[in-house]
Amino acid sequence: MNTWLLTIDELNDPFTLRRLGDILKSGGLVVFPTETVYGIGANALDPQAAKRIYVVKGRPSDNPLIVHIAKPEDVYSYAETISEDALRLMEVFWPGPLTLILQKKAIVPDETTAGLHSVAVRCPGHDGARRLIRAAGVPIAAPSANISGRPSATRFDHVKEDMMGLVDAIIDGGSSDIGLESTVLDVSIPTPTILRPGAVTKEMLETVLKKSVSMGSLSKESDAPKSPGMKYVHYAPKGEVTVLYGNIEDVARWVNDTARQDLAHASAVICSNEETTLFAMPSVLGIGSRSRPETIAKELFSALREMDNRGIERIYIPAFSEADLGAAIMNRLLKAAGYRTLRLDKNHTKNS
Ligand code: TXA
Ligand code: MG
Repeated sequence: MNTWLLTIDELNDPFTLRRLGDILKSGGLVVFPTETVYGIGANALDPQAAKRIYVVKGRPSDNPLIVHIAKPEDVYSYAETISEDALRLMEVFWPGPLTLILQKKAIVPDETTAGLHSVAVRCPGHDGARRLIRAAGVPIAAPSANISGRPSATRFDHVKEDMMGLVDAIIDGGSSDIGLESTVLDVSIPTPTILRPGAVTKEMLETVLKKSVSMGSLSKESDAPKSPGMKYVHYAPKGEVTVLYGNIEDVARWVNDTARQDLAHASAVICSNEETTLFAMPSVLGIGSRSRPETIAKELFSALREMDNRGIERIYIPAFSEADLGAAIMNRLLKAAGYRTLRLDKNHTKNS
């Protein structure tokens, strides 16, 4: 398939915008930027179009899609029984990186929700994304624009790597602002529950709702994840990722003494810019500042992909703080690691 490549500025041309809208309306796939990560868009009301997304991504068919809308009021067309909590959150956080799980209306096909009675709805903060959805005249189902299992795409290069020749068009919007996918919050139940942490944090949600919000079972221990997407291999580069806990001096000592001696594998460290000089490894990638977690969030997926480009087989990453946005960063990192962690102290290495 020929993939039409264009830049976000080209959406200013009404004919281009109309053509993209027509592609979507008639069942085609368009990759577009959002403020979180790039998405592969398809008409969310068209079962065949939704199915194409699963095929192109190699996505398990029981993992439902998020329905993206151009303006908050459109939620009433696709969801019902919208609680006071949900309304309050839409008012404060939409358009933006928050996805709400609501009771679905019959118009949303099973192919989009993977047979669930609920539907995930998001009104993206990215102006170009909303213009594209408006041009299509239908809501747009859009999972992250990566082959299933790989790190989500946050740059045009990543998208081209994964999606060229598989979709009708790709819109280049530069680097994603946030770099991690939206917060997924279940508001179809009495206690709002975070199914996937993101840039709209637990603390932010609680401040607005004036009540506590629960963190769903996000860990590997959970048997029956509420968000079906959480149970699959995710965000994984080809190399094996290990998350290292402990104070940074102990972590650095272990890496320099032990990991560096492993000459059988190409190894690398991903850490904050402040810590790069602590590691005596041939490949050390600094990704933003510890004091500004948003800079780490923005670079994380890109750094994991860079490990593949460098042919790295063992990737060591000191754990980041789990506070605020850190919850989302550590959620993605632990998934990329398949929950492989080591806890290090002055003398010992302990498997954790
Ligand atoms: O930031 C984002 O949300 C990006 C951009 C493109 O908007 N999209 C995205 O989509 O991350 P995707 O398909 O990669 O992730 C959707 C997540 C999955 O974990 C899925 O299981 C969950 O949302 N989800 C979707 N519908 C659901 C539902 N009805 N109930 C529970 N979880 C649902
Ligand atoms: Mg995804």
